[in-house]
Amino acid sequence: MHGSGTNPALAAELLRAGNCVALPTETVYGLAARADDPQAIRRIFEHKGRPLTNPLILHFSDVEGLDGWVDLKAMPEGARALMMAFWPGPLTLLLPRGPKVKDLVCAGLPHVAVRIPQHPMFRDIIRQVGAPLAAPSANPSGYVSPTNAGHVLSQYADSPLPFVLDGGPCARGVESTILGWSPEPTIYRLGALPPEAIEKVIGRPCAHLQSDSISVAPGMSPHHYAPHTPLVVSDAAPPPDAGWITWQAMEPTPLHPFRIGISDRGDLEEAATHLYGAMIALDQLDLAFIFVQPFPETGLGLTLNERIARAARRHESGTAF
Ligand code: TXA
Ligand code: MG
Repeated sequence: MHGSGTNPALAAELLRAGNCVALPTETVYGLAARADDPQAIRRIFEHKGRPLTNPLILHFSDVEGLDGWVDLKAMPEGARALMMAFWPGPLTLLLPRGPKVKDLVCAGLPHVAVRIPQHPMFRDIIRQVGAPLAAPSANPSGYVSPTNAGHVLSQYADSPLPFVLDGGPCARGVESTILGWSPEPTIYRLGALPPEAIEKVIGRPCAHLQSDSISVAPGMSPHHYAPHTPLVVSDAAPPPDAGWITWQAMEPTPLHPFRIGISDRGDLEEAATHLYGAMIALDQLDLAFIFVQPFPETGLGLTLNERIARAARRHESGTAF
């Protein structure tokens, strides 16, 4: 057991030996394992309590590394242009699977999810390990994704991970956008990269997968990313003893000691960076409710609204997972 630390060489050594290690990316912290070792991959599912039917994203250090993992001869139109435009960065592509991909990574599906993350530490470690890294968000299955090393440590307080590499807070704070082809370009998950940016590069509008189509993308189950405290999306001010997440400047409100402002400037990128951290912090206070002010339905606001709607839906249906 190594706790947490800032030494990437230790993370690489543990990963090379087949352990699972939490690593920083620009989106959220990931729980990584080498993608060429089924035993190592299995450990990810065990630590997270994740169903084996929910596939993982493969992370690479450079485009050349995709060879053999993706069927490069069968790439959909526009895929290369998107790689050039947005990698390294928060875009995950669902591409035809190559022979090197283990069944466990893509739940036996014909496509594999791939991306090149922006955090330089993550890419360095991939090079040191000498294999791509499979990595879902580091949270235990169903909980809010961690955006700093402290979140990961507290989420696994009862069953510590071999190592958490502390690479500072995540710059984006929400997961990557997932794009697939079915056969038209389709957003499978809204994320840190707004669809408008993708549409500009491919020169056509993207379809959107309904988040209830669980059979297509298992992780798109509506019950995800939720804190334990019931979450309410509302423009109205909550009762004084509730948590409250706001993204616009507000008069100081002595009535609301549990308010966290995630962007006084009303800046959605700044709000995205702090949203999960605010949810996690308020969740630790054992409050009756967490109220969240809805975001504008544009750009990154669409992603943030989708995340808080999911978190709220968990409690409406009363489902625990
Ligand atoms: O920003 C991110 O994408 C982070 C960082 C660590 O890279 N990773 C992440 O992974 O969010 P995860 O596993 O928490 O979410 C990936 C989603 C899941 O909903 C999964 O079902 C879906 O991607 N997915 C993965 N492979 C897929 C595939 N082959 N076909 C359809 N959906 C897939
Ligand atoms: Mg996740």
